[in-house]
Amino acid sequence: MANVVVVGAQWGDEGKGKIVDWLSERADVIARFQGGHNAGHTLVIDGKVYKLAALPSGVVRGGKLSVIGNGVVLDPWHLVKEIASIQEQGVDISPENLMIAENTPLILPIHGELDRAREEAASKGTKIGTTGRGIGPAYEDKVGRRSVRVADLADETTLIARVDRALQHHNPLRKGLGIATVDRDELIQQLKDIAPSILQYAAPVWKVLSEKRKAGKRILFEGAQGALLDIDFGTYPFVTSSNVIAGQAATGVGMGPGAIDYVLGIVKAYTTRVGEGPFPAELQDADGQRLGERGHEFGTNTGRQRRCGWFDAVLVRQTCATSGVNGISFTKLDVLDGFETLKICVGYELDGKELDYLPTAADQQARCKPIYEEMPGWSESTEGARSWNDLPANAVKYVRRVEELIGCPVAMLSTSPEREDTILVTDPFED
Ligand code: GDP
Ligand code: IMO
Ligand code: MG
Repeated sequence: MANVVVVGAQWGDEGKGKIVDWLSERADVIARFQGGHNAGHTLVIDGKVYKLAALPSGVVRGGKLSVIGNGVVLDPWHLVKEIASIQEQGVDISPENLMIAENTPLILPIHGELDRAREEAASKGTKIGTTGRGIGPAYEDKVGRRSVRVADLADETTLIARVDRALQHHNPLRKGLGIATVDRDELIQQLKDIAPSILQYAAPVWKVLSEKRKAGKRILFEGAQGALLDIDFGTYPFVTSSNVIAGQAATGVGMGPGAIDYVLGIVKAYTTRVGEGPFPAELQDADGQRLGERGHEFGTNTGRQRRCGWFDAVLVRQTCATSGVNGISFTKLDVLDGFETLKICVGYELDGKELDYLPTAADQQARCKPIYEEMPGWSESTEGARSWNDLPANAVKYVRRVEELIGCPVAMLSTSPEREDTILVTDPFED
């Protein structure tokens, strides 16, 4: 029996969805443990494209239990729409194979409105570049003890009390920002209307998972975002509002830390970031443009253009440490095909000194200059390669150098968006 946590080891969009879908064949349960529909995970299966945001990426395979854990913030109206659109693609979703933790906080329309109003009001330098989906405000309400949670939908008196508590906080805030105050009765009615669609999936997830574990079932934890967007260890304040690193998998569903047997870090062969914030190895030249074009670096759900740069080994060494990564899945190697020379960031220069990690202070992060090492590229195509033998010698050398620099072995390699274009080196469930 082994449970595997999949986490993004950069700034998100590393290809987690593809890898979770691929690995889910080997798992019984696939659980989301943080984030919300700010995530955008794309799966390509026999040419058919599935775009997921709130649903776990294991949902597309039949016969698996998909779980939305308490560490997630859930927009119920979004979820209902996402379920309908995935069902339209022929995927079976029912309370038999989808479960939502009863203690999951809800994202309400007030959260999205507040998120967007703050971003609009922010001046240059303070804008985060959020997805505008209400993630930050919903987590603020969770720790502020004023969330409406899934379980509250089951009882009208409780629901009304919870909404009143939330509005006590939000209406004065909205007035200050010049947004109309909320019509309490309308919000309560909206929640009562959506309640049955959500409650059919509600369950004590901690209990179900504890029983599954005792029965020897395998759990695959699916992280969203990436460790550099972690609320504690990311490039604060340009981060998301949840803990993204692997330790969150346990609290985000209600299991002990001993339930995690293997941490798989998903690492893109270069670096991307969407939204504002420091990015030492960012390229604003033809190479950056080429990475973006070849890698189709546009947001899965928001359509925003992603910033691109060379592979930053300093950052990934750091995120492998904060998440306790046992092995990485190296993705999008094919995007590097045809570059004559590749660069890898191996350190930073800050105020005349060399650093082997990203400092914590935001002003220092913004001033870190990359120190590069160069490697020869390859002209052959690696797209769709399914074995090490299909890779040109220079591509293998690049992968080996990355392993050396980050101090972590490659467990899987991905060479195209397609599910089966994946090379397994070490099975995380068997390691
Ligand atoms: P996630 O947020 O980590 O799940 O990643 P996204 O789905 O947002 O972005 C990754 C994009 O790269 C998606 O469009 C995937 O279909 C695609 N992708 C995943 N792995 C590979 C790969 O090995 N090669 C190429 N070319 N594309 C890939
Ligand atoms: P996946 O799971 C990339 C970024 C946003 C913004 C910051 C805060 O697809 O890898 P938020 O809406 O969370 O308050 O925005 O975090 N961000 C992501 N970037 N991939 C994601 O998810 C992201 N989710 C949030 O762009 O910079
Ligand atoms: Mg994504």
